[in-house]
Amino acid sequence: MAFRLSPLWWPALALASPFIAPKLAKKNRRFKENVKKAEVRNAERIAGARPLDLPELDFLELTVLVEEKAREGFVGDAGVSYQFVTDRGSLLYDVGFGPERPALAHNAGRLDFTIDHTDAVAISHLHPDHMGGIKASRSLQVTVPDQLGDCGNKPCFLPDRAAADGFDAQVVEAPQMLAGGIGTTGPLARSLFFMGFTEEQALVAKVKGKGLVVFTGCGHPTIEVILKMVRHISDAPLYAIGGGLHFPVTSGRGNRVGIQFQTFIGTGKPPWKRITDDDLTRTIAAINDAGPKKIFLSAHDTCDHALGRLVEELRAETTVLEAGGVYPLSD
Ligand SMILES: [Fe+2]
Repeated sequence: MAFRLSPLWWPALALASPFIAPKLAKKNRRFKENVKKAEVRNAERIAGARPLDLPELDFLELTVLVEEKAREGFVGDAGVSYQFVTDRGSLLYDVGFGPERPALAHNAGRLDFTIDHTDAVAISHLHPDHMGGIKASRSLQVTVPDQLGDCGNKPCFLPDRAAADGFDAQVVEAPQMLAGGIGTTGPLARSLFFMGFTEEQALVAKVKGKGLVVFTGCGHPTIEVILKMVRHISDAPLYAIGGGLHFPVTSGRGNRVGIQFQTFIGTGKPPWKRITDDDLTRTIAAINDAGPKKIFLSAHDTCDHALGRLVEELRAETTVLEAGGVYPLSD
């Protein structure tokens, strides 16, 4: 298991600890308050959720524009951008690191994808790897590369308040239909130590003769909470789960300057605690209990060790998503 923080940082950390420790203590108080706030808010939202009138889709297909793993000729990146096409239309879910990194523009070019090809955009949550980069996240402005063409004032469904220049920005507050016969769970919250109170929405669709297909961005609210909400949205059987589950157990993605950021940020734990194999064991059991037939894993926020365990231990047919891949979800 690699160091989460390179030993080269340790002397500096020791020297700075008198300054850092009080800041961390203060942050920890806020983090704990937010843990309670998120639990209360999610429980109220789930209890108050009404069934969504999800149409039965004859056809549902996912094209992966951005993912950590990539097919030959495509650029991999620790972000997410998925294009869903149905017999009723289409929806782009997340825009990776947007113009800050080459993956989205390059891969979209290879797949001949522009915003023209989608009816609407939905952003899972307002983090850099989903809404268009670090600058986009800091300024709360969804940003797509110019190569994706005119945004055409298409709807951009957001889980929390943000801007989306060129789009018709709409903040989602509860489960609702989005586009292409695909719905959203509405925002579900999670307290994150460094990233703060984070709202994330997952997608839900109903495939004729199969059941529900659920896709997450990072899975910050936890798949357990997301599935609780899904059960209130529809009583159709669960057919497939896809997207990020956030399990950087032995390492993170996109490590920089000797720091495995994903193992500190976005874990729902304080930085001195790490995500463990026991946490993963519990989630695997929860998914197996939910009984989906298919799983499509995102590697962008989950390490290879965790992916290996998921592929091995999940009872569903499990696939790791790759940029450039086209995945039929109605077969
Ligand atoms: Fe993510």
